[in-house]
Amino acid sequence: MVAASQGTAYEAIEIASRDEISALQVERLRWSLHQAYDHVDHYRRKFDEHGVHPDDLKTLADLSSFPFTIKDDLRENYPFKMFAVPREKVLRVHASSGTTGQPTVVGYTQNDIDMWATLMARSIYAAGGRSGDMVHVGYGYGLFTGGLGAHYGAERLGCTVIPMSGGQTEKQVQLIADFQPDIIMVTPSYMLNLADEFGRQGVAADSTRLRIGLFGAEPWSELMRREIETTFGIDAIDLYGLSEVIGPGVASECAESKDGPVIWEDHFYPEIIDPSSGEVLPDGSHGELVFTSLSKEALPIVRYRTRDLTRLLPPTARSMRRIDKITGRSDDMLIIRGVNVFPSQIEELILKQPMLSPHYLIEVWRDGHLDAVDVNVEIKREYRYRLAVDKEHVANTLQHHIKSFIGITAQVRIIDIGGIERSLGKARRVIDKRPPE
Ligand code: DLL
Repeated sequence: MVAASQGTAYEAIEIASRDEISALQVERLRWSLHQAYDHVDHYRRKFDEHGVHPDDLKTLADLSSFPFTIKDDLRENYPFKMFAVPREKVLRVHASSGTTGQPTVVGYTQNDIDMWATLMARSIYAAGGRSGDMVHVGYGYGLFTGGLGAHYGAERLGCTVIPMSGGQTEKQVQLIADFQPDIIMVTPSYMLNLADEFGRQGVAADSTRLRIGLFGAEPWSELMRREIETTFGIDAIDLYGLSEVIGPGVASECAESKDGPVIWEDHFYPEIIDPSSGEVLPDGSHGELVFTSLSKEALPIVRYRTRDLTRLLPPTARSMRRIDKITGRSDDMLIIRGVNVFPSQIEELILKQPMLSPHYLIEVWRDGHLDAVDVNVEIKREYRYRLAVDKEHVANTLQHHIKSFIGITAQVRIIDIGGIERSLGKARRVIDKRPPE
């Protein structure tokens, strides 16, 4: 750690010059491509087919000639064939369930676990957390990377960790009220679930000691941030990551700027590509985020297509680039009568209505030959008494906004509190009942 002028402390690389960061990236990229090519059959075969070799990489731009990796590559090499070290050197595995079939398995050596803990500690620090803070971890523990990832990072920073995991909502609220943690780490949708439970127990959500929340694992809008911040009286910070790359802590926001997660570029090299052509796009362009790991031993990952749609933004609070809020995943995009729609667009419009809560579910179905959309959304607790009177007006207003801002006709249903199933982790926002094409 080095001291910076504001009396805060960063690791030196976080505030290094662009040249220093790029030089480190080239050196590490070469190592990482070798780690993949020399030890993983899949990469050796893929690189050979593409006529590329790790030694071809002389500059960062040369990475674009290397082949992409997709989730199916990990599935096809289930369970351990993507590992670049003998299984005995793998200290831990995690897995993501995915929606169908084979889980994706990822592995970590001791050095990988150390790097991950360091980056999570860096992320909590950037969010405003300090040694001595108490951290309530409500991300699920287990095969999901959220719980243990947050846990090791908080310990590394010198915090007191409450390994709560997901679920047991009543108990979560009790422990937050009794232990008075400073920081909470959960999915944003679960934080809303906790807000309800505070209400149910008659405890003011903004009466706790909580100061900071690190939220991620699912898309959440700027308005959702504001909702959480005002309900709890905290700073809501965006934490990004995915298991294939490391887990949480690939990128994280700085408290002083709150302008999009800073990519920890000393360990992960980002690119933005055109999702249909695969062409690399200049910084600032919207497209699909792609990552190459720079230091991972057990599971080097080369040009992994995340399916997350965003853009790269220039450095601000640190010397590393940021990502804009994730609009959604390319596989979450709904095509409704030919119009492309992301659930996050509908969320923005819901949250612009003061009487509506952030609890919603979008149902898509087929009405004859045409797509039909139902938006079910709960009224806020404080407006419940107006439900009978204002229901139709509120529904019509939202319907009108969806038509004019997104261009689709949706049937809006305003429902009573508790009508939408609550998330325990990643929220399910869409049920698509249309028969497959
Ligand atoms: O969700 C890791 C994580 C845990 C990140 C806790 C942050 C906090 P996966 O289960 O592999 O890993 O899911 C990764 O979740 O590709 C994004 O689509 C989405 N995602 C993660 N963080 C954010 C975020 C974890 N801050 C997938 N904003 C990613 C939007 C996010 N989407």
